[in-house]
Amino acid sequence: MNVINVSLEGKGSASYQIGIGYDIADGIGRILAEKQLGARYAIISDSSVSPLHGEAFLKKLHDAGLNVSLMEFPAGEHSKNINTVLDIAARMLASGVDRKCALIALGGGVVGDIVGFIASVYMRSLPYIQVPTTLVGQVDSSIGGKTAIDLREGKNLLGTFYQPSAVFIDLKFLETLPEREFNNGLAEIIKYGIIDDEGLFGLLEKEMPAVKKRKGGFPEHIVERCCRIKKNLVEIDERDQGIRHFLNFGHTIGHAIEAASEYAFTHGEAISLGMKAAARISGRLHGLPLQDRERIENLISQAGLPTRLPERIATDDIIARLKTDKKKDGDTIHFVFLHKIGSPLINGGVTEAVVRETIEGLRK
Ligand code: GLY
Repeated sequence: MNVINVSLEGKGSASYQIGIGYDIADGIGRILAEKQLGARYAIISDSSVSPLHGEAFLKKLHDAGLNVSLMEFPAGEHSKNINTVLDIAARMLASGVDRKCALIALGGGVVGDIVGFIASVYMRSLPYIQVPTTLVGQVDSSIGGKTAIDLREGKNLLGTFYQPSAVFIDLKFLETLPEREFNNGLAEIIKYGIIDDEGLFGLLEKEMPAVKKRKGGFPEHIVERCCRIKKNLVEIDERDQGIRHFLNFGHTIGHAIEAASEYAFTHGEAISLGMKAAARISGRLHGLPLQDRERIENLISQAGLPTRLPERIATDDIIARLKTDKKKDGDTIHFVFLHKIGSPLINGGVTEAVVRETIEGLRK
């Protein structure tokens, strides 16, 4: 197992390690037995992941000598709400989970967000461990301690910053990932290349055909490179006050498209269109070379992600949703743009006319 340290000493949160490898459940059991993060562990998963991996993972942890139980809740974003939190908390209480226990989030982004949220508030907080099973979870949402549930009014509106005590990334889980969910993660991986690492971007251009065939497993070096980029940003800006915003490249227009599509687009599909839009505005306002824009659009399309906005999603609807974005600061909507691949900047001053024209341009 390769290990990356997330070092948050002196910043109010404890540091932790990200372990990455293939088929590492035995190792996870051994490490948890050694570190004794909890006297007892409760694995919390969802109804998609638990039938595939829950029992096998539970057995590995039992075999390592851990006192561990498994519970699940219905899979899907619609579960990411206060009712699920109350239901899980009640079940935890009934089964005697107390402050000496640690939670294990086994699943994708929704599981990680809910379990992290519960861990941050249950009995005034418990340690939790992230075991992400999706590509998005592995390269992004399991790292950095953002926890959240949705309100009727919008996504992720109740949440905390609460760092996990460890993250374990087992690439074996990716083998059972449906194609669309896999592509969802590819969009975030492309984003890392764009915002931070021209070398990674070039590597993706070269390796994307092999990655798409999913033969021989997902390249560990790519996941590791993404995790290192994320951890560097989190170490500098744990509370998302500045440089961590770079992770939102493509997300401003992307989130608005995702919501306007009524979630018919996955997050990764929507942010692919958002990245294309951000690259085009970067070309107009910040001198992003045409060649870089073309490379971004080609890589998105090579990954099997959309590059065209369908007519059924109205520009007015997207603009209206941009105006209610929770990342807005007063009337200013923050965008992440690019000088070139690997060199991002934050800009709050884009006119509605430019945004509108760019969104219309996504239809061609
Ligand atoms: N997924 C964006 C962040 O963790 O800041």
